[in-house]
Amino acid sequence: MKPEEPKVLITEEAIRRRVADLGHRISGDYAQVENLLLVGVLRGCFIFLADLSRVLTIPRSVDFIAVASYDTSDVSTGSVRLIMDLRTDIAGKHVMIVEDIVDTGHTLSYLMSLLIPRHPASLKCCALLCKPTCLKTDVRIDYLGFEIPDAWVVGYGLDFQDRYRALPYIGIFQQREGR
Ligand code: PRP
Repeated sequence: MKPEEPKVLITEEAIRRRVADLGHRISGDYAQVENLLLVGVLRGCFIFLADLSRVLTIPRSVDFIAVASYDTSDVSTGSVRLIMDLRTDIAGKHVMIVEDIVDTGHTLSYLMSLLIPRHPASLKCCALLCKPTCLKTDVRIDYLGFEIPDAWVVGYGLDFQDRYRALPYIGIFQQREGR
């Protein structure tokens, strides 16, 4: 099997415009807040978080959390484990989970149940992508970039076997029989 160039699903320009929109909306909604803590979910979030944090016009800080799922090949088992916790005590703080993609929703659901008992002043989620037809949990995405079809997408932080993360666009990964 030989990989071929991903097929463009969302262009670099469309991402840039949408991230700017999200930044504008979030900056308006949090205008009265002293600080917003952006919690990036490693590793896929790193490019989206870098761009989103720079278009916000409100005071904000950044922390990271890393989780992994106990998936077998491409199938989600729904079990998520914590790899690296936050450095920040979020009690009393306004917190926004920043995800590259919500697929089954298991990761976001796990993060909510992990962070809510820490008593943040508020806890919301901003995700660049969501696959509505794949959701298996009842999760709320407060700020969403794009709804996408059920396909394996790469680029702008998303990977296939840790490749393609640096592509400037979101593409559909496709494999073909090759030499
Ligand atoms: C991706 C993505 C989310 C999660 C969403 O992470 O970054 O965290 O999957 O999937 P779910 O809604 O089905 O739980 P991935 O496990 O690919 O790890 P990575 O971010 O390190 O690439």
